[in-house]
Amino acid sequence: MKKPVRIAITGAGGQICYSLLFRLAHGDLLGPDQPVILQLLDIPVAEQTMRGVLMELEDCAFPLLQDMTASTDPETAFRDIDLAFLIGSRPRSKGMERRDLLAFNGGIFKEQGRALSNMAQRHVKVLVVGNPANTNGLIARHHAHDLSPDNFSSMMRLDHNRALAQLSLKIRQPLHSLTRMTVWGNHSPSQFPDLSQVHVSGQPIQHFLDDHDWIEQTFVPTVQKRGAAVIETRGLSSAASAANAALNHMHDWLHGTAEGDWVTMGVPSDGSYGIPEGLMCGFPVICHQGHYQIVKNIELNQFSRTMIEASWRELAEEKQAVSSLLT
Ligand code: NAD
Ligand code: LMR
Repeated sequence: MKKPVRIAITGAGGQICYSLLFRLAHGDLLGPDQPVILQLLDIPVAEQTMRGVLMELEDCAFPLLQDMTASTDPETAFRDIDLAFLIGSRPRSKGMERRDLLAFNGGIFKEQGRALSNMAQRHVKVLVVGNPANTNGLIARHHAHDLSPDNFSSMMRLDHNRALAQLSLKIRQPLHSLTRMTVWGNHSPSQFPDLSQVHVSGQPIQHFLDDHDWIEQTFVPTVQKRGAAVIETRGLSSAASAANAALNHMHDWLHGTAEGDWVTMGVPSDGSYGIPEGLMCGFPVICHQGHYQIVKNIELNQFSRTMIEASWRELAEEKQAVSSLLT
């Protein structure tokens, strides 16, 4: 029997976790022969709900679920963990932008960054999902003094998947034939879903799509505003699709991206493409042997450069807005 992988999941009583936890315990991330220990965290007002979820996990009798704990203390939840999904935080409601959540959620990631630094394994992989995910990731990373910035990432994968889905519908080609999608920038309406580098069954997208009006007036805004559209329609923030994206993100980080393809992750900028160093920004990345690397030397046209700059400028503003949390 393999050594179990310890996974911390915050916001365990919430909507996203009600999908994610069961998939983790079923083996959807680590495969059918890898036991897991789930270490759940929520706040005291949600403790009872979290304990109910624990009961349901137990009732599934998942063979891979070796153990599980539920706590309201981050240091307890993060002890010896290999992986962390930082989901716990308030979602926006109709009419709000994600950055309006910084005032409520930013402080959570300061405390949790410190707790990760104190308690997690040094190789821990941390995915920040709670919004605004990029700037919360920046805050957590900043306070994790004894971890490397490479331990951290934030979730842009839902945007990436949304972009793939919209494109597949438009050009009537199967999703598995599409590679090299990127969503640059912030997980916000300023993000830039960029299909210019996409290949379809190995052929450049330009052989399949020559409709700039659709790209600029339909594709880009649809992906940018999809989160708000789901809230408007469902009455609640996306949950199962977010859990799915979180699994996709962690899966590729752990197991690597497919040959010839890349994925979008929010990672600390190394200054590539003129994006200020340190901002947690959506980039195209290749993952190999458990590490991510930003894809370099993509030729960007003026439209793309302008769109990317607008989004990193917003990330820089968010960083400025939380400067009191970065001391
Ligand atoms: P939810 O309200 O259903 O659940 C949130 C849970 O977090 C609650 O149980 C709450 O008690 C808990 N929580 C609050 N503060 C906490 C803390 N300090 N420590 C631990 N747990 C805490 O919300 P949800 O739908 O699960 O969404 C969670 C977050 O994920 C929101 O911020 C949402 O905007 C974000 N989100 C991000 C993406 C993305 O693509 N990055 C996608 C979907 C949702
Ligand atoms: C999403 O993109 O669906 C999430 O970030 C939730 C939201 O607030 O839009």
